[in-house]
Amino acid sequence: MIKNIAVIKGDGIGPEIVDEAIKVLKKVEEVYEHTFNLNYVKAGGEAIDAYGECLPEATVEACLASDSVLLGAVGGPKYDVQPPNNRPEKALLGIRSRLGLYSNLRPAKLFTELKDASPLKPEIVEAGIDFMVVRELTGGVYFGDHVTTSENDVEVAYDVMKYSAPEVIRIAKVAFETAMVRNKKLCSVDKANVLDSSKLWRKYVLEVAKDYPEVELTHMYVDNAAMQICKDPAQFDVILTENMFGDILSDEASMITGTIGTIPSSSLGEGTRGMYEPIHGSAPDIAGQNKANPIGTILSVAMMLKYSFFMEKEAQAIETAVQKVLDDGYRTGDMMDKHTTLVGCKEMGDLIVAAIA
Ligand code: NAD
Ligand code: IPM
Ligand code: MN
Repeated sequence: MIKNIAVIKGDGIGPEIVDEAIKVLKKVEEVYEHTFNLNYVKAGGEAIDAYGECLPEATVEACLASDSVLLGAVGGPKYDVQPPNNRPEKALLGIRSRLGLYSNLRPAKLFTELKDASPLKPEIVEAGIDFMVVRELTGGVYFGDHVTTSENDVEVAYDVMKYSAPEVIRIAKVAFETAMVRNKKLCSVDKANVLDSSKLWRKYVLEVAKDYPEVELTHMYVDNAAMQICKDPAQFDVILTENMFGDILSDEASMITGTIGTIPSSSLGEGTRGMYEPIHGSAPDIAGQNKANPIGTILSVAMMLKYSFFMEKEAQAIETAVQKVLDDGYRTGDMMDKHTTLVGCKEMGDLIVAAIA
Protein backbone atom coordinates (compact mmCIF):
# COMPACT_ATOMS: atom_id res chain seq x y z
CA MET A 1 0.00 0.00 0.00
CA ILE A 2 1.09 3.59 -0.57
CA LYS A 3 0.39 6.08 2.22
CA ASN A 4 1.28 9.75 2.58
CA ILE A 5 2.23 10.80 6.09
CA ALA A 6 2.78 14.37 7.25
CA VAL A 7 5.45 14.39 9.96
CA ILE A 8 5.79 17.14 12.57
CA LYS A 9 8.81 16.69 14.80
CA GLY A 10 8.09 19.69 17.01
CA ASP A 11 10.14 20.86 19.94
CA GLY A 12 12.19 19.59 22.89
CA ILE A 13 12.44 15.80 22.67
CA GLY A 14 10.07 15.86 19.65
CA PRO A 15 12.79 15.42 16.99
CA GLU A 16 14.55 12.64 18.94
CA ILE A 17 11.46 10.52 19.51
CA VAL A 18 10.09 11.06 16.00
CA ASP A 19 13.42 9.97 14.48
CA GLU A 20 13.10 6.63 16.30
CA ALA A 21 9.47 6.22 15.27
CA ILE A 22 10.44 6.88 11.64
CA LYS A 23 13.11 4.17 11.83
CA VAL A 24 10.38 1.77 12.93
CA LEU A 25 8.07 2.93 10.14
CA LYS A 26 10.83 2.37 7.58
CA LYS A 27 11.43 -1.13 8.90
CA VAL A 28 7.71 -1.91 8.54
CA GLU A 29 7.80 -0.46 5.02
CA GLU A 30 10.63 -2.81 4.12
CA VAL A 31 9.34 -5.97 5.79
CA TYR A 32 5.72 -5.61 4.65
CA GLU A 33 6.39 -3.98 1.27
CA HIS A 34 4.50 -0.73 1.71
CA THR A 35 5.45 2.75 0.60
CA PHE A 36 5.22 5.49 3.19
CA ASN A 37 5.84 8.91 1.67
CA LEU A 38 6.97 11.24 4.45
CA ASN A 39 6.32 14.96 4.18
CA TYR A 40 8.15 16.83 6.94
CA VAL A 41 6.37 20.03 7.96
CA LYS A 42 6.71 22.35 10.93
CA ALA A 43 4.39 23.38 13.75
CA GLY A 44 4.83 24.83 17.22
CA GLY A 45 8.13 26.34 18.34
CA GLU A 46 10.07 25.04 15.33
CA ALA A 47 7.60 26.89 13.05
CA ILE A 48 7.90 30.07 15.13
CA ASP A 49 11.69 29.87 14.71
CA ALA A 50 11.45 29.26 10.97
CA TYR A 51 8.48 31.39 9.93
CA GLY A 52 7.44 33.50 12.92
CA GLU A 53 4.08 31.74 13.24
CA CYS A 54 3.18 28.63 15.22
CA LEU A 55 0.91 27.08 12.61
CA PRO A 56 1.63 28.09 9.01
CA GLU A 57 -1.27 27.49 6.61
CA ALA A 58 1.06 25.31 4.51
CA THR A 59 1.37 22.92 7.46
CA VAL A 60 -2.39 22.62 7.81
CA GLU A 61 -2.70 22.04 4.07
CA ALA A 62 -0.02 19.37 4.15
CA CYS A 63 -1.86 17.64 7.00
CA LEU A 64 -5.17 17.88 5.13
CA ALA A 65 -3.53 16.43 2.02
CA SER A 66 -2.02 13.49 3.92
CA ASP A 67 -3.42 10.10 4.87
CA SER A 68 -2.32 10.75 8.47
CA VAL A 69 -0.13 12.92 10.65
CA LEU A 70 2.62 11.86 13.06
CA LEU A 71 3.58 14.40 15.71
CA GLY A 72 6.29 14.41 18.38
CA ALA A 73 5.50 17.18 20.86
CA VAL A 74 5.45 20.98 20.87
CA GLY A 75 6.24 23.75 23.34
CA GLY A 76 8.98 24.78 25.69
CA PRO A 77 10.11 27.61 27.98
CA LYS A 78 11.62 29.54 25.06
CA TYR A 79 8.14 30.09 23.66
CA ASP A 80 6.34 30.97 26.87
CA VAL A 81 6.75 34.66 26.00
CA GLN A 82 4.72 34.27 22.81
CA PRO A 83 1.28 35.91 22.75
CA PRO A 84 -1.53 33.37 23.48
CA ASN A 85 -2.44 33.04 19.80
CA ASN A 86 1.08 32.21 18.73
CA ARG A 87 2.07 29.73 21.41
CA PRO A 88 3.22 26.29 20.20
CA GLU A 89 0.33 24.66 22.09
CA LYS A 90 -2.06 26.76 19.98
CA ALA A 91 -0.67 25.05 16.88
CA LEU A 92 -1.59 21.67 18.27
CA LEU A 93 -5.12 22.82 19.06
CA GLY A 94 -5.30 24.39 15.59
CA ILE A 95 -4.40 21.14 13.84
CA ARG A 96 -6.87 19.14 15.95
CA SER A 97 -9.64 21.56 15.15
CA ARG A 98 -8.84 22.19 11.45
CA LEU A 99 -8.69 18.43 10.84
CA GLY A 100 -11.86 17.84 12.87
CA LEU A 101 -10.14 15.37 15.20
CA TYR A 102 -12.69 15.31 18.00
CA SER A 103 -11.99 11.81 19.26
CA ASN A 104 -8.80 11.14 21.21
CA LEU A 105 -8.03 7.61 22.39
CA ARG A 106 -5.41 7.23 25.12
CA PRO A 107 -4.78 3.67 26.31
CA ALA A 108 -3.66 2.98 29.87
CA LYS A 109 -2.32 -0.53 29.70
CA LEU A 110 0.34 -2.01 31.90
CA PHE A 111 3.20 -3.89 30.29
CA THR A 112 3.71 -6.56 32.96
CA GLU A 113 7.48 -6.00 32.60
CA LEU A 114 6.93 -2.46 33.92
CA LYS A 115 4.98 -3.43 37.02
CA ASP A 116 7.88 -2.46 39.29
CA ALA A 117 7.98 1.00 37.71
CA SER A 118 4.37 1.69 38.75
CA PRO A 119 4.09 3.82 41.90
CA LEU A 120 1.06 1.75 42.99
CA LYS A 121 1.24 -1.14 45.46
CA PRO A 122 1.92 -4.55 43.81
CA GLU A 123 -1.51 -5.94 44.75
CA ILE A 124 -3.27 -3.04 43.00
CA VAL A 125 -1.09 -3.37 39.92
CA GLU A 126 -1.57 -7.15 39.82
CA ALA A 127 -5.35 -6.73 39.73
CA GLY A 128 -4.75 -5.38 36.20
CA ILE A 129 -4.52 -2.01 34.49
CA ASP A 130 -6.05 -2.00 31.02
CA PHE A 131 -8.46 0.76 30.15
CA MET A 132 -9.01 3.29 27.41
CA VAL A 133 -9.56 6.99 27.99
CA VAL A 134 -11.81 8.45 25.31
CA ARG A 135 -11.16 12.17 25.46
CA GLU A 136 -13.27 14.75 23.58
CA LEU A 137 -10.66 16.83 21.75
CA THR A 138 -12.14 19.82 19.91
CA GLY A 139 -14.57 21.32 22.40
CA GLY A 140 -14.86 22.40 26.01
CA VAL A 141 -12.79 25.04 27.75
CA TYR A 142 -9.90 24.68 25.31
CA PHE A 143 -12.06 26.09 22.54
CA GLY A 144 -14.37 28.45 24.45
CA ASP A 145 -13.72 32.18 24.71
CA HIS A 146 -10.54 33.11 26.57
CA VAL A 147 -10.78 36.64 27.92
CA THR A 148 -8.48 38.82 29.97
CA THR A 149 -10.06 42.15 30.84
CA SER A 150 -10.82 44.45 33.69
CA GLU A 151 -14.02 44.90 35.65
CA ASN A 152 -14.36 47.94 37.90
CA ASP A 153 -10.62 48.53 37.60
CA VAL A 154 -9.89 44.98 38.75
CA GLU A 155 -8.02 42.63 36.42
CA VAL A 156 -10.07 39.53 35.61
CA ALA A 157 -9.74 36.59 33.25
CA TYR A 158 -12.08 33.79 32.26
CA ASP A 159 -12.29 30.79 29.97
CA VAL A 160 -15.59 29.38 28.81
CA MET A 161 -16.35 25.67 28.97
CA LYS A 162 -19.01 25.03 26.37
CA TYR A 163 -20.43 21.90 24.77
CA SER A 164 -23.21 21.42 22.23
CA ALA A 165 -25.48 18.37 22.14
CA PRO A 166 -24.05 17.12 18.79
CA GLU A 167 -20.50 17.38 20.15
CA VAL A 168 -21.42 15.19 23.11
CA ILE A 169 -23.39 12.72 21.00
CA ARG A 170 -20.59 12.07 18.49
CA ILE A 171 -17.91 11.44 21.12
CA ALA A 172 -20.30 9.32 23.21
CA LYS A 173 -20.87 7.11 20.16
CA VAL A 174 -17.12 6.61 19.82
CA ALA A 175 -16.90 5.63 23.48
CA PHE A 176 -19.78 3.14 23.28
CA GLU A 177 -18.32 1.63 20.10
CA THR A 178 -14.97 1.35 21.89
CA ALA A 179 -16.63 -0.38 24.84
CA MET A 180 -18.45 -2.78 22.48
CA VAL A 181 -15.15 -4.21 21.23
CA ARG A 182 -13.70 -4.34 24.74
CA ASN A 183 -15.37 -5.45 27.98
CA LYS A 184 -18.60 -3.47 27.44
CA LYS A 185 -18.13 -1.23 30.48
CA LEU A 186 -18.23 2.53 30.10
CA CYS A 187 -17.67 5.10 32.82
CA SER A 188 -18.59 8.65 31.82
CA VAL A 189 -16.68 11.19 33.89
CA ASP A 190 -18.09 14.66 34.45
CA LYS A 191 -18.74 17.31 37.09
CA ALA A 192 -22.53 17.30 36.75
CA ASN A 193 -22.94 18.27 40.41
CA VAL A 194 -21.60 21.74 39.53
CA LEU A 195 -21.26 22.43 35.80
CA ASP A 196 -24.03 23.03 33.26
CA SER A 197 -21.78 21.72 30.50
CA SER A 198 -21.51 18.46 32.48
CA LYS A 199 -25.29 18.24 32.93
CA LEU A 200 -25.69 18.48 29.18
CA TRP A 201 -22.89 15.93 28.81
CA ARG A 202 -24.64 13.43 31.07
CA LYS A 203 -28.04 13.98 29.42
CA TYR A 204 -26.73 13.16 25.94
CA VAL A 205 -24.51 10.29 27.08
CA LEU A 206 -27.71 8.76 28.51
CA GLU A 207 -29.47 9.36 25.16
CA VAL A 208 -26.74 7.59 23.20
CA ALA A 209 -26.74 4.75 25.77
CA LYS A 210 -30.22 3.73 24.54
CA ASP A 211 -28.58 2.43 21.35
CA TYR A 212 -26.09 0.33 23.32
CA PRO A 213 -28.11 -1.76 25.79
CA GLU A 214 -25.26 -4.28 26.12
CA VAL A 215 -22.88 -1.68 27.53
CA GLU A 216 -22.91 -1.20 31.28
CA LEU A 217 -22.85 2.59 31.74
CA THR A 218 -21.84 4.34 34.95
CA HIS A 219 -21.21 8.01 35.76
CA MET A 220 -18.52 9.34 38.02
CA TYR A 221 -17.53 12.82 39.14
CA VAL A 222 -14.08 13.80 37.95
CA ASP A 223 -12.61 14.31 41.42
CA ASN A 224 -13.69 10.82 42.46
CA ALA A 225 -12.42 9.43 39.13
CA ALA A 226 -8.95 10.88 39.82
CA MET A 227 -8.98 9.08 43.16
CA GLN A 228 -10.42 5.78 41.82
CA ILE A 229 -7.78 5.58 39.05
CA CYS A 230 -5.07 5.12 41.66
CA LYS A 231 -7.18 3.26 44.22
CA ASP A 232 -8.68 0.61 41.97
CA PRO A 233 -7.77 0.97 38.28
CA ALA A 234 -8.97 -2.56 37.49
CA GLN A 235 -12.59 -1.34 37.74
CA PHE A 236 -12.23 0.64 34.48
CA ASP A 237 -12.67 -0.57 30.92
CA VAL A 238 -13.50 2.62 28.97
CA ILE A 239 -13.53 6.11 30.45
CA LEU A 240 -15.36 8.79 28.46
CA THR A 241 -14.72 12.41 29.34
CA GLU A 242 -14.50 15.99 28.13
CA ASN A 243 -11.37 17.67 26.85
CA MET A 244 -9.67 19.09 29.95
CA PHE A 245 -10.70 16.31 32.34
CA GLY A 246 -9.32 13.85 29.77
CA ASP A 247 -6.04 15.72 29.54
CA ILE A 248 -5.53 15.52 33.29
CA LEU A 249 -6.84 11.99 33.88
CA SER A 250 -4.80 10.53 31.01
CA ASP A 251 -1.53 11.80 32.51
CA GLU A 252 -2.52 10.21 35.82
CA ALA A 253 -3.56 6.99 34.08
CA SER A 254 -0.22 6.84 32.26
CA MET A 255 1.83 7.09 35.42
CA ILE A 256 0.17 4.14 37.13
CA THR A 257 1.43 2.02 34.20
CA GLY A 258 4.98 3.02 35.10
CA THR A 259 5.70 6.09 32.99
CA ILE A 260 4.09 8.64 30.71
CA GLY A 261 6.79 7.81 28.17
CA THR A 262 5.16 4.69 26.71
CA ILE A 263 1.61 5.95 26.11
CA PRO A 264 0.49 6.62 22.52
CA SER A 265 -2.67 8.30 21.25
CA SER A 266 -4.88 8.49 18.21
CA SER A 267 -6.96 11.52 17.28
CA LEU A 268 -9.65 10.92 14.69
CA GLY A 269 -12.72 12.60 13.25
CA GLU A 270 -15.26 11.32 10.73
CA GLY A 271 -12.80 9.89 8.18
CA THR A 272 -9.73 7.71 8.45
CA ARG A 273 -7.21 10.56 8.51
CA GLY A 274 -5.88 10.91 12.03
CA MET A 275 -3.10 12.48 14.00
CA TYR A 276 -0.94 10.22 16.13
CA GLU A 277 1.23 11.45 18.98
CA PRO A 278 2.48 10.33 22.38
CA ILE A 279 0.46 11.83 25.23
CA HIS A 280 3.46 13.44 26.92
CA GLY A 281 4.94 16.83 26.11
CA SER A 282 8.27 18.11 24.82
CA ALA A 283 10.10 17.30 28.11
CA PRO A 284 12.46 20.30 27.99
CA ASP A 285 14.31 18.99 31.07
CA ILE A 286 15.76 16.04 29.11
CA ALA A 287 15.70 17.38 25.54
CA GLY A 288 18.80 16.83 23.39
CA GLN A 289 20.33 14.33 25.82
CA ASN A 290 19.31 11.03 24.22
CA LYS A 291 17.31 10.22 27.38
CA ALA A 292 13.74 10.36 26.09
CA ASN A 293 11.58 7.27 25.91
CA PRO A 294 10.55 6.84 22.25
CA ILE A 295 8.02 4.06 22.93
CA GLY A 296 4.97 6.37 23.18
CA THR A 297 5.74 7.68 19.68
CA ILE A 298 6.58 4.24 18.31
CA LEU A 299 3.29 2.85 19.63
CA SER A 300 1.55 5.89 18.10
CA VAL A 301 2.86 4.67 14.75
CA ALA A 302 1.32 1.28 15.55
CA MET A 303 -2.01 3.02 16.27
CA MET A 304 -1.75 4.88 12.94
CA LEU A 305 -1.19 1.63 11.07
CA LYS A 306 -4.16 0.02 12.82
CA TYR A 307 -6.74 2.81 12.95
CA SER A 308 -6.00 4.79 9.78
CA PHE A 309 -4.42 2.24 7.43
CA PHE A 310 -6.06 -0.99 8.72
CA MET A 311 -2.65 -2.71 8.79
CA GLU A 312 -3.38 -5.01 11.72
CA LYS A 313 -0.44 -7.38 11.43
CA GLU A 314 2.04 -4.55 10.95
CA ALA A 315 0.73 -2.79 14.08
CA GLN A 316 0.91 -6.06 15.97
CA ALA A 317 4.52 -6.54 14.86
CA ILE A 318 5.48 -3.20 16.42
CA GLU A 319 3.65 -3.96 19.66
CA THR A 320 5.30 -7.38 19.86
CA ALA A 321 8.73 -5.84 19.23
CA VAL A 322 8.23 -3.32 22.05
CA GLN A 323 7.13 -6.12 24.33
CA LYS A 324 10.20 -8.17 23.45
CA VAL A 325 12.65 -5.35 24.13
CA LEU A 326 11.01 -4.72 27.51
CA ASP A 327 11.10 -8.48 28.19
CA ASP A 328 14.81 -8.43 27.45
CA GLY A 329 15.22 -5.88 30.23
CA TYR A 330 16.02 -2.70 28.29
CA ARG A 331 14.72 0.58 29.73
CA THR A 332 15.08 4.29 29.24
CA GLY A 333 15.61 6.21 32.49
CA ASP A 334 11.94 7.02 33.08
CA MET A 335 11.03 3.32 33.45
CA MET A 336 14.24 2.11 35.05
CA ASP A 337 14.37 -0.20 38.03
CA LYS A 338 17.34 -1.99 39.55
CA HIS A 339 17.03 -5.22 37.55
CA THR A 340 17.09 -3.60 34.13
CA THR A 341 19.56 -2.21 31.60
CA LEU A 342 19.60 1.53 30.94
CA VAL A 343 19.60 2.55 27.27
CA GLY A 344 19.21 5.86 25.45
CA CYS A 345 16.46 7.00 23.09
CA LYS A 346 18.41 5.96 19.96
CA GLU A 347 19.41 2.57 21.35
CA MET A 348 15.81 1.86 22.35
CA GLY A 349 14.69 2.71 18.79
CA ASP A 350 17.38 0.44 17.32
CA LEU A 351 16.43 -2.44 19.62
CA ILE A 352 12.78 -2.19 18.61
CA VAL A 353 13.65 -1.99 14.91
CA ALA A 354 15.82 -5.09 15.29
CA ALA A 355 12.99 -6.94 17.04
CA ILE A 356 10.57 -6.45 14.13
CA ALA A 357 10.67 -9.72 12.26
P1 NAD B 1 6.01 16.85 29.75
O1 NAD B 1 5.12 15.71 29.44
O2 NAD B 1 6.78 17.41 28.62
O3 NAD B 1 7.07 16.41 30.88
C1 NAD B 1 6.68 16.03 32.19
C2 NAD B 1 7.76 15.13 32.81
O4 NAD B 1 7.72 13.86 32.16
C3 NAD B 1 9.17 15.67 32.63
O5 NAD B 1 9.93 15.37 33.76
C4 NAD B 1 9.69 14.89 31.43
O6 NAD B 1 11.09 14.72 31.41
C5 NAD B 1 8.96 13.56 31.58
N1 NAD B 1 8.75 12.95 30.26
C6 NAD B 1 7.80 13.31 29.36
N2 NAD B 1 7.91 12.57 28.24
C7 NAD B 1 8.95 11.73 28.44
C8 NAD B 1 9.57 10.71 27.63
N3 NAD B 1 9.14 10.41 26.41
N4 NAD B 1 10.62 10.05 28.16
C9 NAD B 1 11.07 10.32 29.40
N5 NAD B 1 10.53 11.27 30.20
C10 NAD B 1 9.49 11.96 29.71
O7 NAD B 1 5.11 17.96 30.45
P2 NAD B 1 5.46 19.50 30.86
O8 NAD B 1 6.82 19.56 31.43
O9 NAD B 1 4.32 19.94 31.64
O10 NAD B 1 5.43 20.30 29.49
C11 NAD B 1 6.57 20.67 28.74
C12 NAD B 1 6.13 21.35 27.45
O11 NAD B 1 5.44 20.43 26.62
C13 NAD B 1 5.17 22.51 27.67
O12 NAD B 1 5.49 23.53 26.76
C14 NAD B 1 3.81 21.93 27.36
O13 NAD B 1 2.87 22.88 26.92
C15 NAD B 1 4.17 20.98 26.24
N6 NAD B 1 3.26 19.85 26.06
C16 NAD B 1 3.06 19.45 24.77
C17 NAD B 1 2.29 18.33 24.51
C18 NAD B 1 2.10 17.92 23.09
O14 NAD B 1 2.79 18.41 22.21
N7 NAD B 1 1.21 17.00 22.81
C19 NAD B 1 1.75 17.60 25.57
C20 NAD B 1 1.98 18.03 26.88
C21 NAD B 1 2.76 19.15 27.12
C1 IPM C 1 -1.79 16.99 25.41
C2 IPM C 1 -1.23 18.36 25.78
C3 IPM C 1 -2.01 19.45 25.09
C4 IPM C 1 -3.45 19.40 25.62
C5 IPM C 1 -1.46 20.86 25.25
C6 IPM C 1 -0.01 20.94 24.86
C7 IPM C 1 -2.25 21.85 24.46
O1 IPM C 1 -1.19 18.51 27.16
O2 IPM C 1 -1.86 16.66 24.22
O3 IPM C 1 -2.14 16.24 26.33
O4 IPM C 1 -3.71 19.93 26.71
O5 IPM C 1 -4.28 18.82 24.95
MN1 MN D 1 -1.64 16.69 28.27
